[in-house]
Amino acid sequence: MNETITFRNPTIDDGAAIWKVVKDSGVLDLNSAYLYLLLSKDFAETCAVAEMNGEIVGFITGYRPPGRESVIFVWQIGVDASARGKGLGKRLVSYLLRSQGARGASILETTISPSNDASRALFRGIARDLGVPCEVRPCFAASQFPGTGHEDEELFRIGPYDLSQPNQLIEF
Ligand SMILES: CC(C)(COP(=O)(O)OP(=O)(O)OC[C@H]1O[C@@H](n2cnc3c(N)ncnc32)[C@H](O)[C@@H]1OP(=O)(O)O)[C@@H](O)C(=O)NCCC(=O)NCCS
Repeated sequence: MNETITFRNPTIDDGAAIWKVVKDSGVLDLNSAYLYLLLSKDFAETCAVAEMNGEIVGFITGYRPPGRESVIFVWQIGVDASARGKGLGKRLVSYLLRSQGARGASILETTISPSNDASRALFRGIARDLGVPCEVRPCFAASQFPGTGHEDEELFRIGPYDLSQPNQLIEF
């Protein structure tokens, strides 16, 4: 990618832009703007944004599940349609795994719908680059969501990884 992209943890001022990337994706569940502000405020160390020419073109949000110290959970990742397919998604995951907020984690978990080919390919690629297994198992069934129109969510469990060991993950 020729354009200069910078990666960093978000601040409260990024909450609205993250909300907009989610809204524009047309794929991701759009949560309230308040929630993205809250994540940018209190969970910034396990979230990241990609910035190009002063614009947020991608983000990743995550958290450390309480009581499961080895896990970093990726909640949502989104790249603006204009910037997809150029390795940005992979760099966001890589940035998150190497960030302070993911220190001590050795398992990456996320949930993905069966029809989301891009996301499935992204996280399988991460497992491949780390040289570790990617286990897929049921998590949330479509019937557990209110109303209709939400697919199943399968749990992707990647690891155990050790970033101090040789791996193909993008460096920062
Ligand atoms: C999923 C998403 C974040 C991927 O971001 P991206 O920057 O386009 O992904 P990358 O360019 O880093 O590609 C990562 C890998 O996925 C593959 N990939 C990307 N898009 C793909 C697609 N549409 N179909 C199949 N494979 C795809 C790439 O070839 C690459 O594979 P590799 O590791 O073998 O080289 C992006 O498509 C997106 O924002 N989608 C809408 C939101 C969404 O679905 N988020 C995930 C659910 S939380």
